[in-house]
Amino acid sequence: MQTTDIDRYAVFGNPVKHSKSPQIHSLFARQTQQSLLYTAELAEIGQFEAAVKKFIEDNGKGLNVTVPFKQDAWSIATAHSERARRAGAVNTLMLQQDGSLYGDTTDGVGLVRDLMQNHQVQIKDKKILIVGAGGAVRGVLEAILEQQPASLLITNRTKQKAIQLAEDFSDLGNITGCGLNELADEINAHVVDHEGFDIIINGTSASLKGDLPPLPESIFGDNSCSYDMMYAAQATPFMQWSRDMGATTVLDGLGMLVEQAAESFYIWRKVRPETKEVIETIRELLIKNR
Ligand code: ATR
Repeated sequence: MQTTDIDRYAVFGNPVKHSKSPQIHSLFARQTQQSLLYTAELAEIGQFEAAVKKFIEDNGKGLNVTVPFKQDAWSIATAHSERARRAGAVNTLMLQQDGSLYGDTTDGVGLVRDLMQNHQVQIKDKKILIVGAGGAVRGVLEAILEQQPASLLITNRTKQKAIQLAEDFSDLGNITGCGLNELADEINAHVVDHEGFDIIINGTSASLKGDLPPLPESIFGDNSCSYDMMYAAQATPFMQWSRDMGATTVLDGLGMLVEQAAESFYIWRKVRPETKEVIETIRELLIKNR
């Protein structure tokens, strides 16, 4: 299709055909009456930069980047937002006037907006547990700490990664790390004032394989919110277990996906789309196509 007269945007990945981003951004464009085309672009491994160059020649104005090109996206951006620097990640690239690419990351904002605005889950002064210490977790820590939780504990299968992550963000708030196998002891050590965590976020990739990270029941309090950064048509094992354990609010990451997309859309078009109906539509599609 010859599309040089319309502003083009895309998600680049490999694989990429299951991405929901084209649907989400098309809904945003329709809603805000922005004239643009958003597609999913499969790039060959090792060919990311060349594919992006070609895309820009075809009137590409901005792109989202998913696995396995996040590192390449970082490298081809000549300027980075402060939050992208902190996250060590770029998921949004924007073409600038001089032809260079600006790199930003929108995952942290997406998670915080989903929690606070879509679900009225407050973070300020709350006790937060994050499970996992990979790229996905690194990408959201700054945005969470900005909301000034009382404490944030990162727990991870590989303890050292949790400790390192906590150290890297220690200037932004009360953040510590421990091994998953130490979590029960960690909670017991604070047993006098421990009433469970207010918010428990699963940032591991365990849900992708249908696994549940080995967590003790004592993480839950009377009013805990469980949030899986993954999403699926049905509840993930972590969500199912959280329900069984009596968590008051159990959420998946579909809202985060739409919110991070909305932030990218805003960066590109300077128009902020409404997300509520888009989340509902994508949820319906997810269930219909399962
Ligand atoms: P991503 O970019 O999605 O964060 P990643 O950087 O590979 O991917 O990180 C995956 C995270 O999920 C890690 O914290 C990993 O734990 P390790 O650091 O010990 O590898 C965690 N993870 C994956 N599968 C898991 C499982 N079955 N149980 C617990 N943690 C798991």
